[in-house]
Amino acid sequence: MVMQRPPWWKNSVFYCLNVKTFSDGNGDGWGDFPGLTQRLDYLKWLGVGCIWLMPFHPSEDRDDGYDITDYYAVDERLGTLGDFVAFVHEARAHGIRVIGDLVINHTSARHPWFLRSREGRDSPYRSWYVWVDEPPPGDGEPIAVFPHDDPSPWRYDDRTDQYYLHQFYRHQPDLNLANPEVRAEIERVVGFWLQLGLSGFRVDAAPHLMLGTGRGGQTSACDVHAYIAELRSFVTSRCPDAILLGEVNRPYKEAARFLGRQSGTGDELTMCLDFEGMQQMHLALARRDPRLLTESILRRPVPPGTGRWASFVRNHDELVLDLLSEDERNAVFQAFGPDENMKYQGRGLRLRLPTMMRGDLRRIKMVYSLLFSLPATVVLLYGEEIGMGEDLEARGRLSVRCPMRWEPGSGSDAASSAPPVKPVTQERDPDGVCVQAQRDDPDSLLSWIRLLIRLSREYTAFGGDDFLPLETAAAHALAHLRQHEGQNVLCLHNFSKEPAEAAVRLELGEREGPIELTDLLHPGDSYQAEPSGDAVVRLDAYQSRWLSVAEGERHLQ
Ligand code: NOJ
Repeated sequence: MVMQRPPWWKNSVFYCLNVKTFSDGNGDGWGDFPGLTQRLDYLKWLGVGCIWLMPFHPSEDRDDGYDITDYYAVDERLGTLGDFVAFVHEARAHGIRVIGDLVINHTSARHPWFLRSREGRDSPYRSWYVWVDEPPPGDGEPIAVFPHDDPSPWRYDDRTDQYYLHQFYRHQPDLNLANPEVRAEIERVVGFWLQLGLSGFRVDAAPHLMLGTGRGGQTSACDVHAYIAELRSFVTSRCPDAILLGEVNRPYKEAARFLGRQSGTGDELTMCLDFEGMQQMHLALARRDPRLLTESILRRPVPPGTGRWASFVRNHDELVLDLLSEDERNAVFQAFGPDENMKYQGRGLRLRLPTMMRGDLRRIKMVYSLLFSLPATVVLLYGEEIGMGEDLEARGRLSVRCPMRWEPGSGSDAASSAPPVKPVTQERDPDGVCVQAQRDDPDSLLSWIRLLIRLSREYTAFGGDDFLPLETAAAHALAHLRQHEGQNVLCLHNFSKEPAEAAVRLELGEREGPIELTDLLHPGDSYQAEPSGDAVVRLDAYQSRWLSVAEGERHLQ
């Protein structure tokens, strides 16, 4: 029988980075494509399979590039189109794919389309944006995404005496996706970057892509699902194995619809970032209650077709906690970010993980091992692998977007004109939080993450969507079995600083003799389960173990 290889996005680790803050190739203080290209050996060594580039286009830079002024070009600080193509080509040669951010909910207010749209009600670009005489009353859709900065999603423009829609900042007017001309232009943009070598896109703000204006100028909700299916079919027609990875911060039921579950064919997004699971994971860690995480994974709908959830611990935004109840959110704030200046818009934390874990390397390692042990494609944010912290003096969400730390010292080689790097964890070990210091240290976080990537790709047990939680009789320990194509790995994670004895029963069918359990994370450590499958495994404070279950002779039934 010929084994089918899983589609590439199911067994690749994704790595999100901003070219501007990653690596400076020409010494001008900004990261750039030549600098990033030089780092491909490192990313390959780490085990990255796909790089997700945050927006790299010309922009007004009022939302770190998510306010684009030209979709067909490269921000000149980052290099040229030629540098971009050279980078994508080299990435491919390293076995690494590249996807880009697709920001189509809005443009910058300085984009020529919007400048033309503002010129008059009869401008040919007027209907490219959403203009109304009076904002609709009430609290329903559309909502203001950054209410502390822009409380209303409507902005009055006295030039033409109308209001335009901006669900995000006032300088990011929403495109009118109900307009076929806008859709056709977006297809040209998408086709352009696919032709230059991208393997797909991370669809920014996917659930927000829904309001347009009808003929009379009234707002009308256009069907976001039909639109995403249209976009996916265009992408696939140009490049059959390109993907759409969506930012869908919604509860599972709603988020799953973006994977095309309604039609059952998986014809919308290829992958969906798992925001509900991420939030439940932080709640479970804060309360040291693994059941919260287990329950959320068990209620997560299985993606149809070749669809996939993408899980993450932190991303480039605030650690958003808006799917939790107020009590739950406060529990996470209290445990991981109690100070006011650590919070963002009342709904999240502008911290990276090491600060939340108070710099405890054991706990940080446990969280990443947990992430890699769960069924989903893992997405890392640059610098997570070395435990980079944040700069709370930087404005808003920029706190977590400090330059990548390659070497010891005050800055990095990238973007010295970006916010200075003063991650909290570096106060204790200022020189340790960089690639150079950790690369050859077997106990470093970098070595740990590299090991997790290698094992999670190497062991087929991690390849499927299955997840089998096991009883442990230890309240703060999570035990689960990953099973795929006849291979079994028992994963154990201690959420507490108190050691635990996890008593588990593996239902593998009666075996002839004891079952060998070999710890993949701690070479040399091994356990034995009884022929019945019963085993007791000791876990130190915040320890994790991935125990590979030996194949054994089974009793004939
Ligand atoms: C989501 C992005 O992750 C965020 O950084 C950005 O501000 C908004 N979308 C608007 O594009």
